[in-house]
Amino acid sequence: MYGDDIASVLITQEEIAAKTKELAELIAKRYPADAPEGDLLLVGVLKGAIFFMTDLAKALSIPTQMEFMAVSSYGSSTSSSGVVRIMKDLDKDIAGRNVLIVEDIIDSGLTLSWLKRNLSTRNPASLEVVTLLRKPDALRTHVDVAHVGFDIPNEFVVGYGLDYAERYRDLPYIGTLDPKVYS
Ligand code: XMP
Ligand code: MG
Repeated sequence: MYGDDIASVLITQEEIAAKTKELAELIAKRYPADAPEGDLLLVGVLKGAIFFMTDLAKALSIPTQMEFMAVSSYGSSTSSSGVVRIMKDLDKDIAGRNVLIVEDIIDSGLTLSWLKRNLSTRNPASLEVVTLLRKPDALRTHVDVAHVGFDIPNEFVVGYGLDYAERYRDLPYIGTLDPKVYS
């Protein structure tokens, strides 16, 4: 539906679904269903993580609650500035809760590393990260990530929540963008 803007499909809808199920099984094992900390709190990073977050929540066999944050480090360019701003903060206090940050993609790692530091000052009982995608060759800082769906090449990707200038989020797969789109 986007003409020939998508150069190639990197990860299909079926591969995403299978991986989500696999991650959900691993995650469910780490948190007892009746933990004294209460239900596992999924903290989704808007907007990119929404598709992954809702599919992951449905695949998890334990009860979860959902909160969202919006942070900005990008504008509409395709490389990280390292400058993070909170555009929307959590609605609820996370002190004493088991928190799982749900990310769409870790690129330089700068956004996530900042976010982890920020949330840890709010004293959650535990704080871990699950990301659907990671670009190992783009990492510029070390961040501890408990669960990674796919390691991908250092190329700009779109679809399944990921955008370029707010477009392509609605694609059900992850694809690479034809360079003509951003040149
Ligand atoms: P950093 O570099 O801080 O970036 O790890 C994390 C955020 O940057 C966005 N991002 C992308 N968005 N395709 C996208 O649509 C990409 O290839 C890409 N790489 C990074 C994304 O919002 C992520 O949370
Ligand atoms: Mg994001």
